[in-house]
Amino acid sequence: MKNLIIFFLVAFAIFPAFGQNNTGNYPAPVNFTAEQDHQNMMDQLHIKSLRPGADGNNPNAPNAANYDEAKANPYPILPDPLIMNNGKRITTAKQWWKKRRPEIMEDFDREIYGRVPANTPKVTWEVTAVINEKIGDIPVITKKLVGHVDNSSYPLDTVNIQLTLSIPADAAKPVPVIMQFGFVFPPGFHFPKRPDGKASATPPAPTGPSWQQQVLTKGWGVAILSPKSVQADNGAGLTKGIIGLMNKGQPRKPDDWGALRAWAWGASRAMDYFETDKAVNAKKVGLEGHSRYGKAALVTMAYDQRFAVAYVSSSGEGGAKLSRRNAGELVENVAGTGEYHWMAGNFLKYAGPLHWNDMPVDAHELIALCAPRPVFISGGQKGDGWVDARGMFMATVAAAPVYNLLGKKDLGTTDFPPVETSLTDGDLAFRQHSSGHTDVPNWPFFIDFASRYFN
Ligand code: GCU
Repeated sequence: MKNLIIFFLVAFAIFPAFGQNNTGNYPAPVNFTAEQDHQNMMDQLHIKSLRPGADGNNPNAPNAANYDEAKANPYPILPDPLIMNNGKRITTAKQWWKKRRPEIMEDFDREIYGRVPANTPKVTWEVTAVINEKIGDIPVITKKLVGHVDNSSYPLDTVNIQLTLSIPADAAKPVPVIMQFGFVFPPGFHFPKRPDGKASATPPAPTGPSWQQQVLTKGWGVAILSPKSVQADNGAGLTKGIIGLMNKGQPRKPDDWGALRAWAWGASRAMDYFETDKAVNAKKVGLEGHSRYGKAALVTMAYDQRFAVAYVSSSGEGGAKLSRRNAGELVENVAGTGEYHWMAGNFLKYAGPLHWNDMPVDAHELIALCAPRPVFISGGQKGDGWVDARGMFMATVAAAPVYNLLGKKDLGTTDFPPVETSLTDGDLAFRQHSSGHTDVPNWPFFIDFASRYFN
């Protein structure tokens, strides 16, 4: 008996989880800080140190972010989206769909954004409220929705996806919907100062109709998804949310998904819901996101072909900006403890032992995965240098061969256009507005672009 007591005392001391979870055989969730989780991934990858990111705040720092175009292109040769890994060129749409596209997806999965597990759980959507209200002066019917993620595989983690859908009250038939990855700022949050502008990058208070009013005026619906209800926006959260649920609260492996793919997964579950709601024309659902959620919008569009059109605002590094560019934010910044959680662990390699040019894919191929569906790439000017509008333009240009192969129109030029020039006549679109880090100024141009497909 005494021995048995000693055994349990020792067992509890060594395996506290043994005591906590005696109702089931679930491992206790690991509670790392972002720094600890980042270090854990470095250890898994046998990486000792990473190169520092660009300093976006101090133009006199030795590693100040570069805004000199003459120094921006150390690796001008991009991987060719139409050349197979075995060196053979593809020439038909069929080869793109059957052979090359899966190769590119595999590279993004393994090295850049991580893999979505095959057995992600069922999500049950519940309408928690139906509200008759007005957005601006437009009467709408708003549904508040919660997507309950089945957590029977690991009940120690709970994920409830928050979604809001507003449909014009007078809609007589199913309507197109634009869904936004909702940027909910915590109280007191400010964007960091931008290196190339005196002003901080805090979006200016919008004047004129909100994006929702503009979209509703077209007779379309609007939806807002809360990405953070799917997956937290920090490294400490990687053992929680949907990623933690799939890993039973344990740290990621190097090719496991990061937050961007988790947010995209949440958007796909919202699409599952739209397909069941008779108020929505699920063949005409567009997607919008700004900044980190611009990255998420592009990743979602690339992977889930049910989305019809996307507005990708100021997505920068990890989004539409070429990682091979030395301009504004760099791979090294995203590999740091504040942002690495967006990506697969393997992404860290390209800020350590390897370099940008070693990446098997780059942003133009992420855009190419969206083909033939229309994509609008957007950035600002003053105070938005960090996102490298020119690098995003170059990626959009380099995606053209895939759009062309599928019979679609590219930007119509390879020359970087003057600010406020809309390149929106093709299926790939680009516009740099003259404001800062904001999606506000380009909404009307995106809505016009989407109208070509929706009306
Ligand atoms: C930081 C980060 C960017 C990101 C942005 C945002 O500036 O470096 O990559 O897009 O935050 O989401 O606001």
